[in-house]
Amino acid sequence: MARQKIIIDTDPGQDDAVAILLALASPELEVLGITAVAGNVPLDWTQKNARKVCELASRPDIRVFAGADRPLKRLLVTAEHVHGGTGLDGPELPEPSMPLQSQHGVDFLIEELRSQPSGTVTLCTLGALTNVALALQRAPDIAPRIQQIVLMGGGFSEGGNITPAAEFNIYVDPHAAEIVFSSGVPLVVMPLDVTHQVLTTRKRMDAIAAIGTPVARATVEMLDFFERFDVQKYGSDGGPLHDPCVIAYLLQPALFQGRSCNVEIETESELTIGMTVVDWWSVTDRPKNALFMRQVDADGFFELLTERLKTL
Ligand code: BDR
Ligand code: CA
Repeated sequence: MARQKIIIDTDPGQDDAVAILLALASPELEVLGITAVAGNVPLDWTQKNARKVCELASRPDIRVFAGADRPLKRLLVTAEHVHGGTGLDGPELPEPSMPLQSQHGVDFLIEELRSQPSGTVTLCTLGALTNVALALQRAPDIAPRIQQIVLMGGGFSEGGNITPAAEFNIYVDPHAAEIVFSSGVPLVVMPLDVTHQVLTTRKRMDAIAAIGTPVARATVEMLDFFERFDVQKYGSDGGPLHDPCVIAYLLQPALFQGRSCNVEIETESELTIGMTVVDWWSVTDRPKNALFMRQVDADGFFELLTERLKTL
């Protein structure tokens, strides 16, 4: 079986961590590397957290790179109020002993995309799009080489989660998002409309806990911590599990439904900066630049996640 080559760009983050675990548990995927970006917490934490998660999955061989420590133009906004001071509050995970790669994450993205056969590498982005935008700016020749970018970000009918208009990942670096959305690279977008359907209900968490392995235990501890904020905010049974939707799409695309449409990023207005303006009804002639998802089979998603976590 030819494995799908992916690079994960991420700001762990408990939900990022579960996305990384899902990828590492999936034989269909070959993780060429992980690039960390500042977002949920500053870069020093996100790169370290990415290494902790690889070690939790017994994969110290995965190369982890540190990328951008701040957005292109704006000051960094973080989300310790959701993820805790470390970004990965919940379980006690040991300090990682696997090294951080010395190459900058953006240089790695450029070099790897140039050295792999064109059109064979998918970028999975789980945080602000700063690293990818920097790579595209510095090396425009990589754009046609990227098979697709599957990203968690944005919202349509769900609105925003960090401001009324904006979802966190796009809000943190709207200028980077604008570069990516106008790059011509095929985009698949997992917005809040989808991720707010993927709730960590007690029943689903109990099924993961029942696996009984250290990975399953750590997953439940991470998600128990992570959901408390959203449970309070939305009054739901469980919180939304955003980032793993990106990986699940590569494994079982039929779990998701959406349509191809134009998506533009607001970068000017202080009121709505970071908003994804989605032309769902094709009321403009602007080019369709993204496959924008709206629906997910949440039970199917959790069956997949739970089955895969059993293998770690
Ligand atoms: C996104 O923001 C981060 O806090 C999560 O990790 C996810 O990537 C959800 O808006
Ligand atoms: Ca994230």
